[in-house]
Amino acid sequence: MHPALKPFVFERGGHTVRNRTVLAAMTNKQSHADGTLSEDEIQWLEARSEGGFGIITTAATHVEKDGQGWEGEFGTWSDTHLEGLTQLAQNINLHGGIGLAQLFHGGMRAPERLTGCQPKSASENELGSGLGQSRAMTAEDIEGTIRAFGLAANRCEKAGFQGVELHGAHGYLIAQFLGASTNRRNDEWGGSQKKRTRFLREIVNNVRRCTSPNFLVGVRLSPVLASCGLDLDDALDTLQQCNEMDLDFVHVSCWDITETGIYNGKEEPYTTHFRNVLDEATPLITTGGVWNANDAHLAHRQGAAFVGVGRVAIAHPDWPRYLSGNAKEPKRPPFDEAWLVKAKLNPTFIAYMRRWDGFVSD
Ligand SMILES: Cc1cc2nc3c(=O)[nH]c(=O)nc-3n(C[C@H](O)[C@H](O)[C@H](O)COP(=O)(O)O)c2cc1C
Repeated sequence: MHPALKPFVFERGGHTVRNRTVLAAMTNKQSHADGTLSEDEIQWLEARSEGGFGIITTAATHVEKDGQGWEGEFGTWSDTHLEGLTQLAQNINLHGGIGLAQLFHGGMRAPERLTGCQPKSASENELGSGLGQSRAMTAEDIEGTIRAFGLAANRCEKAGFQGVELHGAHGYLIAQFLGASTNRRNDEWGGSQKKRTRFLREIVNNVRRCTSPNFLVGVRLSPVLASCGLDLDDALDTLQQCNEMDLDFVHVSCWDITETGIYNGKEEPYTTHFRNVLDEATPLITTGGVWNANDAHLAHRQGAAFVGVGRVAIAHPDWPRYLSGNAKEPKRPPFDEAWLVKAKLNPTFIAYMRRWDGFVSD
C-alpha cells in the first residue's frame, strides 16, 4: 500500500484521518464581497472530500476585515460568516474528510482597494507598484490581530471544522513578522528571530485559549522567503521555536519538493531539513510539485507524514485514487474549460487559473 494511503491518528482528540493526503490551501476567489462563502466555493471543497482526500484545507481566509488579500476571498472575522462556514464544514465531514480552515491576515499584502484602509505590517514597508507604504502596527494593533485569530478559530470550531492551519508562509502578515527585512522593530516583537516569532507564538497561544482541547492547530511555513528577508537558517530557527508551541502539525510549503538548501553545512531537500529540526512527535506535511504516486513516495522518503497537493487536485478532485497500485497517471495540464467545470471550478476560478502558466488550454 502507498504510504500516503495509510490512516493517521492525531494524538490530540484521537482524530483519525483516513489517509495521509492533504488538499493544500488554495485561494479560488469564488466567494462573496462581504466575506460570506458561496455555494461554488463550498462545492469545490466538498468535491475534494468526496474525492477521498484525508485533510481538506480551505483557501486562506482573513481573520480581520482589513486582512483580505484577494477578491472573492471568504472571511472568518464576523459571526455573519458562521452559517456558510457551518455548511462547508458539514459538507466536508459528510464525505469523511477532516476540515481545516487556513487562517491568515494579508498584512502589507491586503490591498487598500479591497479593504479601504492603509495596509498594516510589522514595519513601514514599501508596497511597490506606486502604492506607498504599509504602516507599522502599534502594540494595540498587534494585540487586536492576535485576538482576531482566536475569535476566528473559535468560529471555525463552532462551525464544525476539526482544526485550523495558521498561514505563516508566502509573505503574508505572520511571515512579515518572521522576516528580518519586513520586521525591523526593536521592541518585544522584533530584533531577533525569537522575538520575530513572538507574534506567531502569541497567536498559537490565543487560538488554544479560544478553542477546546481537541481542536487541531498547525502552522504553515516557507523554507525561504526572499520578499521578507527570511532564509533557511531563519526558517529552521522559527521551526525550533515552534517545537515549544502547542502544535499538532507543521506544513512546509516547498513549491517544489526536490529543491534543496544548505543547513549546518549539509545539503538536503527542505522537507528533510524540516523533519530533522521538528520535534519527533509532530507530523510534517509537505507540498510542492507533487503530481503522481512516485512524487508522493518521494515526499514520504524525505520525512513527511502527509503529502499535500495543490494544482493536481484542481484538475483531479479524486487524486488520492491515483496512489493505489495499478492506477494510471493523472493527466497533466493543460486542461480545457469543460474539464475544469466538471471538477467544480466556477468561471471566476477558471479565469484565475489562466494566470498559472499553461494550466488552462485556450
Ligand atoms: C490557485 C492557487 C491558490 C493558492 N492559494 C493559496 C492559499 O490560499 N494559501 C496557501 O498557503 N497557499 C496557496 N497556494 C499554494 C498551494 O497551497 C501549494 O503550496 C502550491 O500550489 C504548490 O503545490 P502544487 O505544486 O501541488 O500546486 C495556492 C496555489 C494555487 C495554485
